[in-house]
Amino acid sequence: MSLNPALRDWSGQVAWVVGASSGIGLATAGLLAARGARVVVSARQTAPLQQFVQRHPGALALPADVTSREQIGQACDDLLAATGRLDLVMVCAGHYRPQRATAFDLADMLRHQQVNYVGALNVLDAVLPVLLRQRAGHLSLVASVAGYRGLPNALAYGPTKAALIGLAEVLWMDLHDQGLGVSVINPGFVATPLTAQNPFVMPALITPDEAARQILSGWAAGDFEIHFPKRFSRFLKLLGLLPDRLYFGLIRKGTGL
Ligand SMILES: NC(=O)c1ccc[n+]([C@@H]2O[C@H](COP(=O)([O-])OP(=O)(O)OC[C@H]3O[C@@H](n4cnc5c(N)ncnc54)[C@H](OP(=O)(O)O)[C@@H]3O)[C@@H](O)[C@H]2O)c1
Repeated sequence: MSLNPALRDWSGQVAWVVGASSGIGLATAGLLAARGARVVVSARQTAPLQQFVQRHPGALALPADVTSREQIGQACDDLLAATGRLDLVMVCAGHYRPQRATAFDLADMLRHQQVNYVGALNVLDAVLPVLLRQRAGHLSLVASVAGYRGLPNALAYGPTKAALIGLAEVLWMDLHDQGLGVSVINPGFVATPLTAQNPFVMPALITPDEAARQILSGWAAGDFEIHFPKRFSRFLKLLGLLPDRLYFGLIRKGTGL
């Protein structure tokens, strides 16, 4: 039995993708538009959002910084003024810099928290009243397999993604009976500007277009957790079940860190 209403027919559906100027968000916005959705794209950079609108007539660009409650609230108001409703909200904005405890950088720790976690809260603050009023719609938070358990170099990033997974679970419990769908998206490695800085060969790396296809098929299946590529995410899930001693040892051996 699926945990969410299946999202299969995108024709005329209003989808707001926050973090849509590049990578996974941009590819998902493109696929949604190709399936007939009316897509609203947000991020800080205006040029790629405007290019998206030029390529997808009927789309709307609403530049906003997720760390600003005011900017996100204004974007949500502008969206509603233009469309009258909201069927899908995808929170995809993300910040990632490798960090280890031996070079602790509080400013960047807090930057991760502000963009990845507080950013999602700012979007929730804007859209929850709308979705609750409609008693319909779907909220999707992009977390990461890095939120399952601790990974080296993910001192700043990993905990924010673990928090998003926890947040999504509680949102599902609170919102399911209100007629709303909630999902969490946990990608493995996807080739985007965010991961381009990784100095190692990323296992099971996929393209943003493949990620977008996986995301739409997860929404169509009504899944709560949408994770991919399965060969990598299932392996990490299995590793995550191991006792601490074994898990820590295998991760250190596997990464050399
Ligand atoms: N790539 C991977 O392997 C991978 C794996 C697991 C999870 N993820 C997650 O997937 C999501 C998308 O990442 P990506 O890989 O597609 O990277 P990306 O191409 O760098 O995309 C990140 C997006 O977030 C936006 N963003 C960043 N800071 C923002 C802010 N303050 N306000 C509004 N938007 C902001 C960026 O737009 P602007 O710079 O224009 O604001 C961009 O559109 C992130 O949450 C990331 O953590 C990625």
